[in-house]
Amino acid sequence: MTPDMTKTPAVTPFFDQRSNTISYVVQEPDGPGCAVIDAVMDIDYAAGKLNFDGADAIIAHIKGHDLRLDWIIETHVHADHLSGAPYIQQALGGKIGIGAKITEVQDTFGKVFNEGTEFQRDGSQFDALFEDGDTYSVGNMECFAMHTPGHTPACMVHVMGDAAFVGDTLFMPDGGSARADFPGGDAGQLYDSIMRVLALPDDMRLFICHDYGPGGRAIAWETTVAEEREKNIHVGGGKTREDFIKFRTERDAQLAMPSLIIPALQVNMRAGEIPRDDEGDMALKVPLGKL
Ligand SMILES: [Fe+2]
Repeated sequence: MTPDMTKTPAVTPFFDQRSNTISYVVQEPDGPGCAVIDAVMDIDYAAGKLNFDGADAIIAHIKGHDLRLDWIIETHVHADHLSGAPYIQQALGGKIGIGAKITEVQDTFGKVFNEGTEFQRDGSQFDALFEDGDTYSVGNMECFAMHTPGHTPACMVHVMGDAAFVGDTLFMPDGGSARADFPGGDAGQLYDSIMRVLALPDDMRLFICHDYGPGGRAIAWETTVAEEREKNIHVGGGKTREDFIKFRTERDAQLAMPSLIIPALQVNMRAGEIPRDDEGDMALKVPLGKL
């Protein structure tokens, strides 16, 4: 697929402070069609309470601008926050899509969480499963998905006009790249995926999923292919695949698990639906010694 750099969608970011996630509303250039990328549902884990302020802000933006929600995209199964996709879908419609390799993620974590046979591992909780190169439309804007495994097996980068939503392949140039040590992750694969992203046109706008404001700088979310290729601290300036694998593996060995990984995986592998206990109440498990 060749990106259509003549189409410049309007991109509105929404920052979730607790998980440092940036969600986006992407609007086609000359029409009301839009997509939501990586929406967040907040949880007070200690209190067992959900909060929809972030998702409500996205809904208000879409309603306030008279947009029509065509797609709710998850770049991957996030381990650091819960997806707000079903909550937004209930309010506004739209199809929830994720990478087809979600089945591998469901298989892995279905075992970790001892899910019974009622938990389908075929991705059927989602409305659409994207394969590498699949195209779809946001209004009149043709978009496509690129399979970019490494951080997780199901990661996809979504290209919409001159904008690409890179999920957790790359961070801002001074933030580097995402970890590759979750089950199914692979540092070499991540490097290869990043190289595919960096082969997109130089001036393509890249929108990242997380920023932690390294060195105390203000939170940022937008960069370009050229800037990443030149300056990214993990892969830029001609670092080799071997350099990257060595660095990434050593760094990952020192990282703690994200604080919401246990609730996040159970919810996100179900397309954002909360599992139920035998009484039919929303409930999460905390398996011990399995991650
Ligand atoms: Fe992630």
